[in-house]
Amino acid sequence: MTVETSAHTIMERCNLLASYSEEPGRLTRRFATPALRQANATVAEWMRAAGMTVRQDHIGNVIGRYEADRGPFGGHAQTKTLLIGSHLDTVRDAGKYDGQLGVLTALACVELLHERNQRLPFALEVLAFADEEGLRYHTTYLGSRVVAGTFEPDLLRLTDNAGVTMAEAIRSFGGNPDALSQSKRRSDDLLGYVEVHIEQGPVLESLNLPVGVVSAITGSSRMLVTFTGQAGHAGTVPMSARHDALCAAAEFILAAEKLARSQPGLVATIGQLTVHPGASNVIPGEVILSLDVRHQSDSILEDACQQLQRQAYQISEARELSLTWQHVQKYDMTPCKPYFTQLLAQSIEAAGYPAHFLASGAGHDGNTMSTIAPIAMLFVRCKGGISHHPDEAITTEDVTVALKVMEHFLTLLAQKREQGQIS
Ligand code: HGY
Ligand code: MN
Ligand code: MN
Repeated sequence: MTVETSAHTIMERCNLLASYSEEPGRLTRRFATPALRQANATVAEWMRAAGMTVRQDHIGNVIGRYEADRGPFGGHAQTKTLLIGSHLDTVRDAGKYDGQLGVLTALACVELLHERNQRLPFALEVLAFADEEGLRYHTTYLGSRVVAGTFEPDLLRLTDNAGVTMAEAIRSFGGNPDALSQSKRRSDDLLGYVEVHIEQGPVLESLNLPVGVVSAITGSSRMLVTFTGQAGHAGTVPMSARHDALCAAAEFILAAEKLARSQPGLVATIGQLTVHPGASNVIPGEVILSLDVRHQSDSILEDACQQLQRQAYQISEARELSLTWQHVQKYDMTPCKPYFTQLLAQSIEAAGYPAHFLASGAGHDGNTMSTIAPIAMLFVRCKGGISHHPDEAITTEDVTVALKVMEHFLTLLAQKREQGQIS
């Protein structure tokens, strides 16, 4: 097995995993669904074949462990673990590399070691997180939050659009919602968490680079905003007498777009809109919309969210509606560990490319994993920066470069560990 053949296998495996979907003709794989069960089972098989012991934790993450060598640090007391991986769940009508690439690249790193009967002075654990996108329960990072110990039990009462609570979904997936805290990892056991991920943006392609080092993961806030007006007959209620919730929402959506366009680096997205009662001849009485706001600066992000909340109240008052503004989650900007990013940069240069540092506009499991371990990310170029879309595309050549970089990174980390430079 060479990195070239391994990269080819990764691409084939991405195709196979992408066939495990809840919807015919497109890739949608939500948390704790039969499609995710299929993906977990297949990845677990590949992990076992690569010499790993495999388990599924209580939230549904699949974890493959590749033990350390029996050298000076091989003794259990001192063996640390490096976590590498990504997520197996997807958005709706997803591409086949967001998440899958990171899990399969991590798996390939272990396969290459296993094939050479090689071990490192630290254990490797490949993590396939069960929920990063949050499509089913409108929250994100459920898998990594359990590993990091930041999962809030109240989430278990959330229901999906079929009325299934998260607790029921976890049970049906073979987990135990009451034992999630047992799946938390101790930070003193961990060297760090490293994730390979498609860039999901245009920067590497514009620089004609196959890979890049992530400097930080952007901060993000998610809200649910509800405008409540008065439903009524579309034919008999005069325009002057209406309290149309959808017109209020529409005014707010354009105000959010206007604010984001006015502030460099700010992005605001309304991706979901629910209209009640939702009949063509009834004035909308209530509208619930999702609001996703992001910026590299936590203070600018906070200001923008407060401005948008004020504007939403002003719009609802002017139209004599009521408003609820529900905070769903907030993540501060998360810096990657300079020690790791420098090793990644050295590894990129060793592969023959300039090391370009860039921030991630997308959120990642590193946002939560950073609470228990230093994090690092390697981005892989994706065509046109397209992601969260079936046209997501990468090349086998770029995956080969990413594998070379990761192999070199692990070698450097092993050397530092043996030299006692990292504990
Ligand atoms: O929303 C994000 O940025 C990520 O894809 N979950
Ligand atoms: Mn994503
Ligand atoms: Mn992702």
